[in-house]
Amino acid sequence: MSAKRFHLGWFTNFTPDDWNGTFASGGSPWDGTFYVDAARQLERAGFDFLMLEDKLSISEAYGGTSEAYLKHALGLVPKHDPAPLATLIGASTTSIGCVATLSTLGYPPFLLARMCSTIDHLARGRFGWNVVTSAEDAAAQNFGLDKLPERETRYEMAEEYMELCYQLWNSWEPGAVVMDRETATYADYRKVNPIHFKGKYFKSRGPLNTVPSPQVKPTILQAGGSPKGRSFAAKHADAVIAAANGVEGMKAYRDDIRSLAEGHGRNPDDVKVMFLVAPTVAETDREAHARYERAVEAPYFIEQSLTLISAITDIDFKAFDLDRPLPHRLVTNGEQSSLDMFQNWGSGKTLRQLVVEASGGLSESVKLIGTPETVADAMEEAMAYVGGDGFLITTPNAALNRRQLVEVTEGLVPVLQRRGLVRTTYSHKTLRENLLAY
Ligand SMILES: Cc1cc2nc3c(=O)[nH]c(=O)nc-3n(C[C@H](O)[C@H](O)[C@H](O)COP(=O)(O)O)c2cc1C
Repeated sequence: MSAKRFHLGWFTNFTPDDWNGTFASGGSPWDGTFYVDAARQLERAGFDFLMLEDKLSISEAYGGTSEAYLKHALGLVPKHDPAPLATLIGASTTSIGCVATLSTLGYPPFLLARMCSTIDHLARGRFGWNVVTSAEDAAAQNFGLDKLPERETRYEMAEEYMELCYQLWNSWEPGAVVMDRETATYADYRKVNPIHFKGKYFKSRGPLNTVPSPQVKPTILQAGGSPKGRSFAAKHADAVIAAANGVEGMKAYRDDIRSLAEGHGRNPDDVKVMFLVAPTVAETDREAHARYERAVEAPYFIEQSLTLISAITDIDFKAFDLDRPLPHRLVTNGEQSSLDMFQNWGSGKTLRQLVVEASGGLSESVKLIGTPETVADAMEEAMAYVGGDGFLITTPNAALNRRQLVEVTEGLVPVLQRRGLVRTTYSHKTLRENLLAY
């Protein structure tokens, strides 16, 4: 009997990639071809999707200035808009999903619903929206607010936002597009109706002025980690993307999402929980460990990681002593659950140890270091324990280079495929269908 298959996504962003790394390509990433090449490579390996993370400001959280961010292009800066890039990727590929992160803080719901519908057409049913509520005061200030609304309020607003989007996407009934040459009828106007949505935060008349796309609504990804965030994700997401501490943490996370989904009246199998990992793959286990050690000892590694965690929490980590534990449990109106994963409060570890353990600002769920076989063993064991559904693969700090892609797509994935653990061909045309196929 073949082993239980799991899903793979790749997590990156539209940034200067690994611009000064030893194996950086050296060209400009801004015309998108670097990312299109990456997507094609991931498609050959059968990945469900390439996901583009996003933020909407240049942070000054680390040291109270943008210096580290801009000078070294660290953390999350500079960053281009993921929606046009996702469109380009969708138009340049045939089977892989293209996912853009779009913030409910940034877009009026009508524009977002319309844009998602348009991109889903251009990507022939393979567009995904990673729903975020934004987590930085600087982002809020770029949209005319004095500061970020409180987390609870952000989720309350996002809840209403989603409801409004669903109504817009459904404002064209099935069969509304007629295209009858005899009667010169393009659409049946009786099947396209206003929604007259009036909420506490948003109002929209509707209907949407786009034709329903192949998926009607985009595939929804979500990463909320707080109790409100998890409930929101379990209600709306086709795929929950998550970081958790080890296989125990992963199992607890997935069980929680599945029971929350059931509480929302959903079939828990319709919500895939995919865990963030950053594998280091090499010819031998020793070489992989040596490479990992080199990466965490590299100049700027600590600063790079701290700029990232500062940016997503609005906390100045430059103010803390690297060789002492954090002075108290830190709280933020930004990404609290990411912060909690990172600070591992009560462990007594120094800040330097925390950074090295997290392999950068992005916390991994399980450490994956070794040959393709070693890493495949660890992935197989983790999935068997957790119960499914897959992994979201990234590189430390999400900066991408071609070598790391090849190691995963031409080294690790073939081993997983030989074991029957991941797909070898796509069974469906749309992202949601492929995601829910097993
Ligand atoms: C894998 C992963 C990817 C994320 N991607 C983004 C992103 O692209 N943009 C963003 O603003 N937040 C992103 N987040 C943050 C989440 O949207 C969320 O704010 C965070 O997990 C904290 O949850 P909470 O808001 O419920 O406290 C990501 C989180 C994780 C774990």
